[in-house]
Amino acid sequence: MAFLQGLDSHIVIVGCGISGIGAAQKLLSHGFHNVRIIEATGRSGGRIRTGRLGDKIVEIGANWIHGPSQENPVFRLACQYNLLDEKSMTEENQSVDVGGHPPFVPDLFSSSGKRLSPELAGPASALFTGLLQECQEFHASGREPVPSVGEYVKREAARRTAEEWRDEPADTRALQLAMMSMLLKLECCISGTHTMDDVGLGAFGMYKTLPGLDCTFPGGYEGLIHCMMKELPKDIVSYNTPVKCIHWNDSVQRTSPSGRTFPVLVECESGETFPADHVIVTVPLGYLKKHQETLLSPPLPLSKVHSIQRMGFGTNNKIFMEFNEPFWDPDCETIFFVWEDETDLVDVVPNVEMSWIKKLFGFTVLKPTERYGHMLCGWIAGHESEYMESLPEAEVQQSITELIRRFTGNPTITPKRILRSQWYHDPYTYGSYTYVAKGCSEYDIDILAEPLPLKGSNTKPLQVLFAGEATNQSFFSTVHGALLSGWREAERLISHYSPSSYSVSLGSKL
Ligand SMILES: Cc1cc2nc3c(=O)[nH]c(=O)nc-3n(C[C@H](O)[C@H](O)[C@H](O)COP(=O)(O)OP(=O)(O)OC[C@H]3O[C@@H](n4cnc5c(N)ncnc54)[C@H](O)[C@@H]3O)c2cc1C
Ligand SMILES: *[C@@H]1O[C@H](CO)[C@@H](O)[C@H](O)[C@H]1NC(C)=O
Ligand SMILES: *[C@@H]1O[C@H](CO)[C@@H](O)[C@H](O)[C@H]1NC(C)=O
Ligand SMILES: *[C@@H]1O[C@H](CO)[C@@H](O)[C@H](O)[C@H]1NC(C)=O
Repeated sequence: MAFLQGLDSHIVIVGCGISGIGAAQKLLSHGFHNVRIIEATGRSGGRIRTGRLGDKIVEIGANWIHGPSQENPVFRLACQYNLLDEKSMTEENQSVDVGGHPPFVPDLFSSSGKRLSPELAGPASALFTGLLQECQEFHASGREPVPSVGEYVKREAARRTAEEWRDEPADTRALQLAMMSMLLKLECCISGTHTMDDVGLGAFGMYKTLPGLDCTFPGGYEGLIHCMMKELPKDIVSYNTPVKCIHWNDSVQRTSPSGRTFPVLVECESGETFPADHVIVTVPLGYLKKHQETLLSPPLPLSKVHSIQRMGFGTNNKIFMEFNEPFWDPDCETIFFVWEDETDLVDVVPNVEMSWIKKLFGFTVLKPTERYGHMLCGWIAGHESEYMESLPEAEVQQSITELIRRFTGNPTITPKRILRSQWYHDPYTYGSYTYVAKGCSEYDIDILAEPLPLKGSNTKPLQVLFAGEATNQSFFSTVHGALLSGWREAERLISHYSPSSYSVSLGSKL
């Protein structure tokens, strides 16, 4: 009896990204039938967003399945829907471990227009990779000699290069250090942070990689969203309906025509309201940082407010550029730009407006060429990236063209067209993805994920639940982390109402 009532409960999911869609799918498959998704924008997918440059498909948001192997639910779904290349699905590629970094067949250029040999850059990248590995190990050891990854890398690199590279010619040593500045900027893109000085050293190892050679969706990541949406009832989503305030704790009384009362009322910007027994909030951490004061009434408890403020959410943007001919080698996978003056390990520019472009560490080459033509994807993180978003596209194109001409020494290189992402200016995201900032730990992520009312309250349980990329300790910042978090909150409701848990809680009362 109680179980049947549970299946009748009204569940509202705020946000139609992959975490919200995953939660809806799981709830419906367990018999809950009053499920509604409310989405601010006119589309589903959130930060999974496929766009076009000319006739080519490009990913404005997520690009790779990180760690495509059986443990990864996004990989399993993509295989099930038949969305991947045969090559991505081989056993061999599922067992490769890349440790979360892009392929490294580099073309290196310097700011004086010279091509650098990979051998020259080898020692710097070996030292850098080693230092990052050391950073990851502080999580298990529980020690933290300095507060941030940036401070550790800078300190250790300065110390070790002074010792180990003592006998190198001064200009070689300078170039190695400049190379490491570039690698720090690359790391800012991976973490989605302004500077590695903001990323917590002890927490850096919380992020877990899965085995598998990162792969992409030949038809676009959004294909996955379309397949998942097809399995949901047609009209389950209210689009273009930004949620303004979630009134919970019976703070607004609303009775349905059938005489039922609901502890929660979801109020939208449009004035429309949705009564609910449970709400699963999946809005990005960037949105929560901006709107945490008004999104809930009564407001979020202080513990949550503090964790939302402490956790990191930064910007990483892509700039796609198409060329008539390549200026890179046929086997090149990543193009790196090394500023020769950056010998004191820096990952921020001195003046954002004047020199934001120095933050762009380089480009990945989109492969295979038969599919993309000669297309590059530039990467830029931090405040410099946020400033770039505010410039007219033509100005961005001009700046990057000048940059490429300078580094290659070829004054005729001209991109055909460009397309850039603008995640910081997206009013429903305010940035790209989560990182664990200085002073944060798994504790903060647990607090973000904690449902309301908090334990110990004697009001109706599980009124407001929290999912989304930011709420998984090991896989924050990824699509699979987001999907798992949606499933987790759906399971929380499912087990809350399941007959076995009902009898257990009844038993304990008797
Ligand atoms: C540039 C970039 C590159 C990335 N690359 C990768 C990658 O290669 N691999 C990978 O695994 N991950 C990558 N990610 C991360 C990945 O895209 C996200 O972790 C994941 O898509 C997040 O899903 P989500 O459901 O948690 O949030 P979202 O997809 O952001 O969904 C949240 C939804 O909530 C909606 N919303 C917000 N406010 C409101 C409101 N008030 N009312 C109603 N709706 C609201 C939003 O419009 C959005 O649709 C990348 C992200 C970015 C930005
Ligand atoms: C693994 O993937 C890469 C990139 O798609 C591909 O070139 C390679 O052939 C694959 N390996 C196998 C064994 O299929
Ligand atoms: C929720 O309502 C109860 C009962 O009215 C009240 O005691 C409690 O303080 C409220 N909780 C919050 C967070 O406002
Ligand atoms: C995060 O994902 C991992 C991998 O499935 C899972 O073991 C863990 O329970 C998840 N954590 C949370 C808090 O959802």
